[in-house]
Amino acid sequence: MIIGIPKEIKDNEYRVAIVPAGVKELTACGHKVLIEKNAGTGSGIGDAEYRQAGALLIDERGEIFDQADLIVKVKEPLYEEFPLFRSGQILFTYLHLAANIPVAEALLSKNVVAIGYETIRLSDNSLPLLKPMSEIAGKLAVQIGAHYLEKNSGGRGVLLGGVPGIPKGEVTILGGGTVGMNAAKIALGMGAHVHIVDRNPKCLSYLDDIFQGRATTLYSNNHNIEEAVLNSDLLIGAVLLPGGQKAPHLVNKELVAQMRKGAVIVDVAIDQGGCIETSKPTTHSNPIFTWEGIIHYCVCNIPGIVARSSTLALTNLTLPYIVKIADSGLKEAVQSDPSLAAGVNIYRDKVTCSGVAEVLQLPCHPILHLI
Ligand SMILES: NC(=O)c1ccc[n+]([C@@H]2O[C@H](COP(=O)([O-])OP(=O)(O)OC[C@H]3O[C@@H](n4cnc5c(N)ncnc54)[C@H](O)[C@@H]3O)[C@@H](O)[C@H]2O)c1
Repeated sequence: MIIGIPKEIKDNEYRVAIVPAGVKELTACGHKVLIEKNAGTGSGIGDAEYRQAGALLIDERGEIFDQADLIVKVKEPLYEEFPLFRSGQILFTYLHLAANIPVAEALLSKNVVAIGYETIRLSDNSLPLLKPMSEIAGKLAVQIGAHYLEKNSGGRGVLLGGVPGIPKGEVTILGGGTVGMNAAKIALGMGAHVHIVDRNPKCLSYLDDIFQGRATTLYSNNHNIEEAVLNSDLLIGAVLLPGGQKAPHLVNKELVAQMRKGAVIVDVAIDQGGCIETSKPTTHSNPIFTWEGIIHYCVCNIPGIVARSSTLALTNLTLPYIVKIADSGLKEAVQSDPSLAAGVNIYRDKVTCSGVAEVLQLPCHPILHLI
């Protein structure tokens, strides 16, 4: 199979979808890997390393799309990439289509087979390809939030860890999954007071056990959310619904307006639409906006700024799926692996992911009936 790796073009996105070790593994199995020149530079990987591993370096992104059977990326395709896709081409990347309707429509109109990293689901319902980036985004959310709480960043001038004799910073985390747990680890490490809100009692018990009571766990209901949010210096959005659905708004704009002026919201769930009503996507070039005195940070590709760590963590986990698709072909790979089948969001002109179908108001087709 011919596998194409274009350079990422999203704002300040320095990750790359394959490392030289992955190229070696694929070429050893007889596959051809085309990689755009300088695709790895932002992650500290030079063209020579890819060439040495057996990749062909390509100047023109269009040539990669023309030749490759399988396009592997990190982030969703952007507008300028839409015309490059060919009918029947396979795309393997983060998609978050429920919050990206124009991307979904473009892929449908181009008859692409689009597999989203974020909906690949194992039998225990875990999301193995979302996990490493959620771990990174969770950890970054707190250091980013701490930075914007500083007075000269526009925040209320609160040190999350405090010092003896003064109150600690108050951190509320909505959603205690991978992002939430990692955010809690860092916030507790800094010495903040941490509240974690989740609707899954098993998740709350787990967090209570691992943090040994150092974080307060709260069942997700309006009363608990309101009380925690109003008392927060830093509010982190980390909720996710199964099946690729849009995130629910757990905090409405009336509640945001009552928060402490200069408080900070980091809505990590923004890639699925955000779980705070006032959130809207921002970029690394222009990461924040202020609404009613509350700083909002809503970047959809947070891990892109720690590109080297993120690229290594992501490609360790995506490579086995790339090898499987390349070795067995799409049909056999999807038929033999239910986790990969759950990853298929779009199969040519049909939607195969329920959360995406719901937003697009289109029927959802079981992938195994189509392939
Ligand atoms: N912005 C970025 O760069 C970036 C990076 C990585 C992940 N993310 C996103 O962060 C979000 C969270 O990812 P994750 O890996 O932690 O997901 P996860 O599935 O591990 O955790 C989500 C948690 O939300 C909880 N939840 C669902 N509904 C809830 C409700 N009504 N109230 C309270 N809790 C509720 C679930 O029980 C679960 O524990 C996702 O949207 C993911 O795509 C964004």
